[in-house]
Amino acid sequence: MKNNLIGNLQWSSAIINPEGKQKVARQIAGKVKDGDILGVGSGSTVYLALVAIAERIKTESLNIKAIPTSLEISLFCSKLGIPLTTLFEHTPDWLFDGADEVDPNNWLIKGRGGAMFKEKLLISSSPVNYIIVDDSKMVSRLGTNFPVPVEVFPQALLTVEKQLRKLGATDISLRPAKGKDGPIITENGNMILDCKFGRIEGSLERDIKSITGVIESGLFIDYPVDILMASNN
Ligand code: 5RP
Repeated sequence: MKNNLIGNLQWSSAIINPEGKQKVARQIAGKVKDGDILGVGSGSTVYLALVAIAERIKTESLNIKAIPTSLEISLFCSKLGIPLTTLFEHTPDWLFDGADEVDPNNWLIKGRGGAMFKEKLLISSSPVNYIIVDDSKMVSRLGTNFPVPVEVFPQALLTVEKQLRKLGATDISLRPAKGKDGPIITENGNMILDCKFGRIEGSLERDIKSITGVIESGLFIDYPVDILMASNN
């Protein structure tokens, strides 16, 4: 643990199903091999897995590097002493991440944390992708519990909103900032529209992406993912 401003940062997010997540976190850490480049997504199990990986780095002197999907994860890796790299220098050998919804085709909704652009960039660069979820994330249809988040260049908000409605969005809201007035601003300087669709078809990800002004959506259709279930059993 670093003894500086970053080392002193506290992370205290409430973790649902901590035993199950702890088990999967150890499973993820067990997959790490010396020399691996790891893509690191976001979510509560990701934090637990990073702690378990940091422990292995320390006890086994493993030489690994992480490519984080957010500033927050970068800081957490740094706090734990996990070396960082970027997509300029490396592509990931594999990655681990969470999800907000998973359907029977293993299609995902992600982006509750607003980092779906970098998460999709990494998953597109990585041959093996472990997605850690618990029962509450499994749905028979995407859109059951979460809207589809769409990151939008700010000046394009109104024209993108119109196009999203043409694609079948029935309810669109500008994601508010946490704990203060105004919208949330992503790490890329953009805003997020949370969109409810009546029915989500496989073509929707591509259709949303084709709107000028859309940076990325939180729909992950047909990516090669292995779903790891965090359960207490
Ligand atoms: C953020 C995500 C996260 O992976 C998702 O919110 C998972 O969080 P948790 O594992 O804590 O439920 O997609 O963009």
